[in-house]
Parts: sequence; structure tokens; C-alpha cells
Amino acid sequence: MTHLEYIEKNKDRFLQELFELLKQPSISANPKYKDSVFNTAQMVKDNLDKIGIENTKLYETKGYPIVYGEKIIDKALPTVLIYGHYDVQPPDPLDLWHSDPFKPEIRNEKIYARGACDDKGQFFMHVKAAETMLATNSLTCNIKFMIEGEEEVGSENLEDFVKNNKELLSSDVILISDTGIIANDTPSITTGLRGLSYVEVEVTGPNRDLHSGLYGGAVANPINILCKMIASLHDENNKITIPNFYDKVEIISEEQRKIMAQAPFDIDAYKQELDINDVYGETNFSTMERNSIRPTLDVNGIWGGYTEEGAKTVIPSKAYAKISMRLVPHQKSDEITKLFEDHFKSIAPKSVTVQVRPHHGGEAYVSPTNEKGYLAASKAMEETFGKTPIPVRTGGSIPIVALFEKELGLKSILMGFGLDSDAIHSPNEHYGLFNFFKGIETIPLFFKHFSQ
Ligand code: BES
Ligand code: MN
Ligand code: MN
Repeated sequence: MTHLEYIEKNKDRFLQELFELLKQPSISANPKYKDSVFNTAQMVKDNLDKIGIENTKLYETKGYPIVYGEKIIDKALPTVLIYGHYDVQPPDPLDLWHSDPFKPEIRNEKIYARGACDDKGQFFMHVKAAETMLATNSLTCNIKFMIEGEEEVGSENLEDFVKNNKELLSSDVILISDTGIIANDTPSITTGLRGLSYVEVEVTGPNRDLHSGLYGGAVANPINILCKMIASLHDENNKITIPNFYDKVEIISEEQRKIMAQAPFDIDAYKQELDINDVYGETNFSTMERNSIRPTLDVNGIWGGYTEEGAKTVIPSKAYAKISMRLVPHQKSDEITKLFEDHFKSIAPKSVTVQVRPHHGGEAYVSPTNEKGYLAASKAMEETFGKTPIPVRTGGSIPIVALFEKELGLKSILMGFGLDSDAIHSPNEHYGLFNFFKGIETIPLFFKHFSQ
């Protein structure tokens, strides 16, 4: 039986099995869902056992387990390590979902559920592709699986696992489906990820909330001050004002920029999709450059004071914000966090005190386009899409990918099948049936080309 015949015959079961995973609210950020995250790990292991993957194991960590499994057919053959994550983002805000985020359903040829695309639907394509290759006796490389449960919270425990298990993870390439393509008729392969530095800031004014009439005008309002400080972090050209922030930013040659600009991009469709009248960003860079090869600084959340019903006249004692900085190659997450902290404290007036608390971070990643792994992915996609995929650098982050390179000396091939419009991390996340099955079809071809 050919791969296509096997996939066609088992299509409905593949979907049913994915739905079982999607029903689990495996939200790593919220301890309330702890049991479900552990359950999901066990379900992933069971799925691997069922298709004939061997030595499967849940590796316990200080947090959630890492699911491992392998099928070594011949030590002389190359080994492909599959990485993915079974944890998902919180579904909030719930009232904007048109169906329950943990009751997957198909509408308009798309699977709607939290994690449908990021990343349950995508890592599960590898499980079903492996099943297809094993069942049709056509696996041409050794295969290892490493599916973690803490990607959405920074992969902190995976770091130690990788450092302590280099032998177990030894392989020739890492293959990951946790990114996207330009469009269903425009395949692409992700060749770059941005790094991340994430901080939380706390600005404290008076020692208690004050009457805004009695004290207003005479005492610093921490929310006013915080807003002023945040506003000063970008200049009139939308460049970040933190001293030395750009020192190590990778310089992209004009020639490279020209090549990048060839990737199809429709600015009007982009604006329309987001209901915005105009785009916004750093002067002298295109939209595609702004969201991939340039670093950013964004406030992710800001709070303080009175936000309930009605009015309360108050000068709050405290104000808070969560701030993320997306980084590009050569910028170091720890260094940038330190630069931020020093600068942010230096611009605070004496009337407030400022605390900066660093969260998780990670380094940027670029993958070559002339090595065996990339070429295998390119040929595989070319066969299934009928078009050569375009290399594209994305703005998202998968911090563990740079660590894989550092610790294991391995490049990761980011062969994802999602679309930007899949609403990952947003309400109504979905994943196209086309994309799910295209992935299952394409992955065995990667194995075929990688073994040649
Ligand atoms: N799969 C995404 C990253 C992604 C999505 C990259 C689409 C490129 C295209 C991943 O699960 C993710 O959400 N990463 C986080 C970082 C993490 C430390 C929370 C991100 O990019 O915000
Ligand atoms: Mn992901
Ligand atoms: Mn994600």
C-alpha cells in the first residue's frame, strides 16, 4: 500500500485520535490544569506505543514530563529527532469563542480547538506520518520523538533535560512543525525565529492609594509615570531608545533584503484582515522586515488603579506592566534584559521606585538553506505542493531551538503547515484539514529525501 492509500484509508481515525488530544485542556501556564497536562503527556506516550515506537518513556521534570520514544531500524541510517509540544495557551477570552475551545469541531473544513494548530495538530502529523511509514514498512531513517509540555511557558525544564541527555537525543537533524506557511498555494519553510526577553515592571508611588483630590497634583501617580516611561522607549522613528539595544543586531545586506522582499505579501489584504487603516513600525523597514529581522519592544499587559464599574477618585500606589522584546540574531537575551532594567530604572523620577522582574527568554535562530535537512524539506514540499517552498524568517520564537543548536550541535528544520490566520493564541484557533493531511503526506517524503 502507498502512503497516500494508507492515509486515505485511516483519515477519519487520525482525526478522531487528534480530537481526543484536543479535548484535554493542557494549559501549562495555569496550575489549575495540572492533571490535564499530565494526562495529555500519558496520552501522547500511548499514541506512540500504539504505532510501534519503542522505548517510550515519560521523563519527569520539575514541571511537566517530556514524552520520549524512538524507533531505531538501523544504526547506520540517519536519525531524525521530532520535537513538538503538547501544552497549549490559555483559551481566554472565552466569550469570543464560537465553540468550546476544548470540544473540537470541524467547520468549513477546519478543526476548531485550542491547540488545533499550536501545536497538537502539528506534532500529531508526525505521529501519524510515523504510523504510515511503519505500517507500510517504508521508514528510511531512525526516528526519535521528544514532545514537551512547557513550550508555552518558556521550556525551562527542557533545557536541563537536553543538557543531561545528549546521548539519548543524538541524531542528525531536528524536524519541527510548529510554524507556518505563507498560504496553502504558497508553501514556505521557516528559516529564522526571533529571540525573546520578557520582563515585568512594578512602579510604586505613595505607600497607599490616595484621594485624588486631596493629593492629586502634588504626588506622583505611578500609572501616569509608567505610561510616560513606556512611551519614551520608542523615538519618533519607532526605534527603541534603550542605549546599546541595537549594538549587536545582525546587519542584513541589501542583497539579502531584496531576496526577502520577493516573498509574496499583500499589504492591503494584511490591513483588511486585521481591520486596520495603516500599518505601523520602524522607519525605513518594510512590514515583513519589521516583523522578522528587526527587534521589537511591546507592552503585553498594563494594569493598576481602579478598573471596576463606575468611578473611583484615586491615585493608586502601584502600576504594573508586562513587556516583551523580540530579539534578532546576535542579541543576547540576558544582556538585553539587563540593558532594559538599567535604562528603565534610570529614567524613573525620584518620586517613584521601580522594580524589574525578568521572566523567561531565549535566543534567535537562523537555519541554513543549503544543507541536507533544508533541502530534504524543500524537495518534500515541492512534491506535495507542486511548488518550491520559499524560505522565510518569522517573528515568532521557539526559544529551545537555539539551545538545541548550542547543546546538541544540531540544526532544526522548521517545516510547519499552519497559516497566520489560524488564530494561534487567539480565540477560535483552528487548523485546516488540508494542512493537517498535507503535513502527514509531506513528512514521509522528508524522511525519504533525508536518507538519500
Ligand atoms: N509555535 C509558536 C511559535 C511560532 C508560531 C513561531 C508561528 C512562528 C510562527 C510557539 O508555540 C510560541 O507561541 N512561542 C512563544 C514563545 C514562548 C516562550 C512563549 C512566542 O513566540 O510568543
Ligand atoms: Mn507552538
Ligand atoms: Mn504557542
